[in-house]
Amino acid sequence: MESLGVLLLHPMNAYLEQELDRRCRLHRFWEAPPGAPLDEFLRAHAGSIRAVVSNPAYGVDAALIDALPELEIVASFSVGIDHVDLAKCRERGIRVTNTPDVLTDDVADLAVGLSIAVLRRIPQADRYVRAGQWKAKGDYALTTRFSGKRVAILGLGRIGLAVAKRAEAFGCSISYHSRSEKPVPNYKFYANVVDLAANCDVLIVACSLNAETYHIVNREVIDALGPEGVLINIGRGAHVDEPELVSALVEKQLGGAGLDVYENEPFAPEQLFGLDNVVLVPHVGSDTEETCRAMADLVLGNLEAHASNKPLLTPFSG
Ligand code: DGY
Repeated sequence: MESLGVLLLHPMNAYLEQELDRRCRLHRFWEAPPGAPLDEFLRAHAGSIRAVVSNPAYGVDAALIDALPELEIVASFSVGIDHVDLAKCRERGIRVTNTPDVLTDDVADLAVGLSIAVLRRIPQADRYVRAGQWKAKGDYALTTRFSGKRVAILGLGRIGLAVAKRAEAFGCSISYHSRSEKPVPNYKFYANVVDLAANCDVLIVACSLNAETYHIVNREVIDALGPEGVLINIGRGAHVDEPELVSALVEKQLGGAGLDVYENEPFAPEQLFGLDNVVLVPHVGSDTEETCRAMADLVLGNLEAHASNKPLLTPFSG
């Protein structure tokens, strides 16, 4: 695929970038002269850009697509594809690929990790030790166990199911709300998200973001979780009404939260920084060596397949 012109707007996984550079005609926007506007860069290179490699931090919107008349494929280094204007891609006949499956375990691991970190207040305990304190000298109270809790999962797709399996191993009971109402043995389905939240201890958001799931965790859901409930979000920031989440946490109307994703990435709400019942990580669900390598290989494999007119490995399938 040496002749395939590929656009990278920002630095990404180092191995992916190195392989793109080796195997294709790579256009790196950030190597343009400092201050060069994107539209100027695109005008200069549009004739040869047939592919864009993106990730959730760098959207592929209608303006970008319109500026690239030769664009044939958007290959995303992610499973979630809400940062790509899919309607525009469909209209132009542009193919879209993502990286499903290979990241499922890592994201599910993080969901469980965040649940335990919030309930057992691991970061707070770590801060005590680093500050040369011991728990008896601080205000460290007894924590709450994860084992045996009622875990509710919003979105029982690949990742949601992997979270459920892990939680089951901790002796948790599982309930869920999902697009598909197909019953899952031993898991309780709730058609209503408020009811789901009212009947669990830990609510884990694992669905994909679309018009129906935007702000699916609203104030009513947060209130249903209540002062003993914990919210874990490994989906997308926009699944949650963030200002309402922040005020519920600050006012102690919600028990705690573990967040990997935020509405305005790369920023997390500063009002949460001083709270001990909150664990914040910077959208790292799939960030392990093993998974990022597998995701990069899928992106490369999809581009190779596209360039040689073979079936795509992981076409995005809605
Ligand atoms: C993805 O790949 O969409 C997720 O954001 C990983 O955390």
